Amino acid sequence: MNVTVEVNGKEYTKDIEPRVLLVHFLRDHLDLTGTHWGCDTSNCGACVVQLDGRPTKSCTILAAMCEGHKVRTVEALEVDGQLDTIQEAFHEEHGLQCGFCTPGMLMTTRALLDENPDPTEHEIREAISGAICRCTGYKNIVNAVRWAAEHEGGAKAGAGNGASRKAAPAPAAPKAEPFQPIAAAFAAKAAATATAEPAAPEAPAAEPTPTEPGRIVWQSSKTTK
Ligand code: FES
Ligand code: FES
Repeated sequence: MNVTVEVNGKEYTKDIEPRVLLVHFLRDHLDLTGTHWGCDTSNCGACVVQLDGRPTKSCTILAAMCEGHKVRTVEALEVDGQLDTIQEAFHEEHGLQCGFCTPGMLMTTRALLDENPDPTEHEIREAISGAICRCTGYKNIVNAVRWAAEHEGGAKAGAGNGASRKAAPAPAAPKAEPFQPIAAAFAAKAAATATAEPAAPEAPAAEPTPTEPGRIVWQSSKTTK
């Protein structure tokens, strides 16, 4: 089937098997290997990209489901040789060792700072709770996110690595644009390419439950599968 997805501001149309996961679409079909493929079981977070601005585990979603949506990968952080602040921050605070988890950490924390420019240590730890790092012990990652917040002007000067953080602003409620539109788009695509059956598979019933595939939900600290 032909699938068209906007990745890092550019539209790509590829003829792929319907079963291709977004992580493989990015790595194998677009050669964007910055997104890492780790556990393949929705546990490690190495594969996190942003889907319509929200951190999403790309091993939990089909590429075909992303048709008409915007994907942003770690390759888009650096622009014209200028690193994103969060990249500088990981460098400055030694937020990585082997670097395997880093693309997912960067995309997760970039999305966090875009939504909450002055996160507390607790909010940072909650945001990255769906991502596993086997090297750093997380402390330097938290420091890096605080460094980025302070250098982007979102944090109070001198707050320093979350040690004396002000009372945190309530994190913005997750936009409830649920998985439904993607599922519906996928169903429509499948119906269009199918030869005979008019009946597209029923979209899952209305409840936009918190079990949105691949989404990291700041408030609950859980990454859903
Ligand atoms: S590869 Fe581990 S969560 Fe996707
Ligand atoms: S830096 Fe090695 S897994 Fe995080």
